[in-house]
Amino acid sequence: MEMEKEHRSSHPRLVLVPLPFQGHINPMLQLGSILHSKGFSITVLHTAFNSPIPSSYPEFGFVSIPDNLSEQLISADDLLPFISLLNLNCGVPFQECLAKMVQKQEVENEPSIACIVYDECMYFCDAVAKYVKLPSIVLRTTSASTYLSRNAILQLKAEGVLNSQGTSTNIQGAVAYLISALESLFNIFYLGSTSQDLVPGLHPLRFKDLPVSKIGTPEIFLQFITNIYKTRTSSAIIWNTNDVLEQPSLQEIQKQCEVGIFPVGPLHEVAPASSSLIKEDNSCITWLEKQKQNTVLYVSLGSVASVDKKELGEMAWGLANSKQPFLWVIRPGSVDDQEWKKLLTEGFVEAVGENGCIVKWAPQKEVLAHGAVGGFWTHCGWNSTLESISKGVPMICKPCFGDQRVNGRHVSQVWRIGIQLENMCERGEVERAIKRLMVDKEGKEMRQRAKNLKERIQLDIREGGSSYNYLNKLIELIMSF
Ligand code: UDX
Repeated sequence: MEMEKEHRSSHPRLVLVPLPFQGHINPMLQLGSILHSKGFSITVLHTAFNSPIPSSYPEFGFVSIPDNLSEQLISADDLLPFISLLNLNCGVPFQECLAKMVQKQEVENEPSIACIVYDECMYFCDAVAKYVKLPSIVLRTTSASTYLSRNAILQLKAEGVLNSQGTSTNIQGAVAYLISALESLFNIFYLGSTSQDLVPGLHPLRFKDLPVSKIGTPEIFLQFITNIYKTRTSSAIIWNTNDVLEQPSLQEIQKQCEVGIFPVGPLHEVAPASSSLIKEDNSCITWLEKQKQNTVLYVSLGSVASVDKKELGEMAWGLANSKQPFLWVIRPGSVDDQEWKKLLTEGFVEAVGENGCIVKWAPQKEVLAHGAVGGFWTHCGWNSTLESISKGVPMICKPCFGDQRVNGRHVSQVWRIGIQLENMCERGEVERAIKRLMVDKEGKEMRQRAKNLKERIQLDIREGGSSYNYLNKLIELIMSF
């Protein structure tokens, strides 16, 4: 166990435990920054795998824990088994580390630990907190609507409507729709409803939008959501969302929850520092400086999703044919190397010329805040969605897996600030979507709605706004422990 930095202060200390993926590390460290600015001392307990970069947060203490994980094991395809392995491997070393920290604080008169804040996917922390007799709080990093849609699946299981294989035992009325959707999504068998049907009670989600993993067995998926949503002993839930975006879902969740929920997001707006694990290429900002206002389409699929061989060519030529300037993040590993080389030899770069800028990783929040950026082609990871909304940038949604489909549907149908590309995209469809968003009247209206939403979010995080008030209530709760 390596103590990377000691942190001393007279304020109570919070121990943060992020899930070691970019989309989860970011909101956890942003939350840490906000709470640090309110006087708390912060210690981040993290895995050796994907460890955060301590120099980005010199005011925090960082403690690395051995996790016995090998990087080769990880891909978007086996994220759920990976999370379960992480929870199995980390309990003991985290517990030992925390027990030592508690002991040390007593002996050396260090700031006492007020509580442990852990990512919902690091659910082993609940037992660890109980063992060291500390309160704990969960941080949920996906949308409130994602929670409700996953919870609907769990409820069916609890009611015995789904048996342990995820197949139905009692099919009636509206419930049959959900079951059949699950079954078709799980590729078990098909009972009559189509994936286009709306899920009762989860408007505007269709069965095809449900955050059901098609990888592995229904058992693994159901176990995963049971683990992350099981009510354990935590004292509260912090949510990276807010009332402006999701008030009805949040109200519904508060009715179901035994503990208080604190929607204090979007966290990145209150704490903008970067926690990027990959070096950001700032040359794209210089390129953006040369482009006209609202003309550039920013294209990025986040830190996990990838583009398949066929889609890569369609996407690339759709972008080139649209003649719209674009800034494209091609993260190493997110595209097939051979296919990419083939595209380059087929004249893609020549066809694009000065109209395109391609980088391996961008300073995304800075890019989205740049006046030249007029649209975002996104996989709809929750952080990207929040970052785009809070900068007033409309989106082309191409969700890849999990919660991204729920987010994409909300972008296009609820907030009406984007266009969703369905199924596999073909270059003509890509070109048309880009023109609709970047040039047509329809896109201008979406941009206006996105700007209105941005302003409402800005008000919400300032004094008197709901996120601001929830943050104060959260601090009161932590101080009461
Ligand atoms: C994962 C899941 O895939 C997503 O569905 C879930 O909602 C959160 O966890 P990820 O796929 O990485 O996250 O997407 P996202 O949530 O959008 O997070 C990506 C983060 O990386 C964003 O904060 C974004 O600003 C940052 N990023 C992305 C960069 O800093 N530079 C880039 O070039 C691309």
